[in-house]
Amino acid sequence: MSFDRSVKIAPSILSADFANFGREIEMVEAEGADWIHVDVMDGHFVPNLTFGPPLVKAIRKHVKTVMDVHLMIAPVDPYIDAFVDAGADILTAHLEAGLHTHRTLQAIRGAGVKAGLALNPGTPVEVAGPLLDLCDLVCVMTVNPGFGGQSFIETQVDQVRRLRAMIGDRPIHIEIDGGVDPKTAPLVVEAGADVLVAGSAVFKGGSVSNPGVYGDNIRAIRTALSG
Ligand code: DX5
Ligand code: ZN
Repeated sequence: MSFDRSVKIAPSILSADFANFGREIEMVEAEGADWIHVDVMDGHFVPNLTFGPPLVKAIRKHVKTVMDVHLMIAPVDPYIDAFVDAGADILTAHLEAGLHTHRTLQAIRGAGVKAGLALNPGTPVEVAGPLLDLCDLVCVMTVNPGFGGQSFIETQVDQVRRLRAMIGDRPIHIEIDGGVDPKTAPLVVEAGADVLVAGSAVFKGGSVSNPGVYGDNIRAIRTALSG
């Protein structure tokens, strides 16, 4: 995985058919997805539950691009090895998930995968300063984590801009997660984001038997960016 700052679209399988993840991933990649975003929720750090390492491992063989695993769990550290073993390329932990995020990021990198740091909308990006050299990606949440289909929080655009300035030349991705669609994507890309997670905006209206819609939805985001 070499570093580049071109815009990447990462469909979140939270909006896919949970009974058909393998096909959903294959279809959305065939239709132009750059990465696959996998949302792990524990019903404790966030008020929703999804799945754990065995499911992530089972879908890994269907992912040809990059498997980007977003951990909305607390604690994180006891589960790092299991998610690395499940085949995550990037493992992202929330700053708010524990007191020792520095240690968590070290442990993720130490386990041999890329480390991501996610920040809730209420967290100022400036707190990430001392952690940036341990990060391959910073995920700026543009909704409160836990559910797909929520409205984009506009005040986060300025946070993205400030984070972009803090990062400078360092090879660190800025990922946006929540409420990304053709209207909001240009705002965050202009502010400096390069990875756009999109759940409902990619999967809406399509299905594995009608995957062309996924392609239309992905192209609608890309077209909005070039306009
Ligand atoms: C929210 C998740 C997101 C979610 C985004 O907690 O982290 O990845 O799937 O969904 P949309 O794109 O529908 O806002
Ligand atoms: Zn996510």
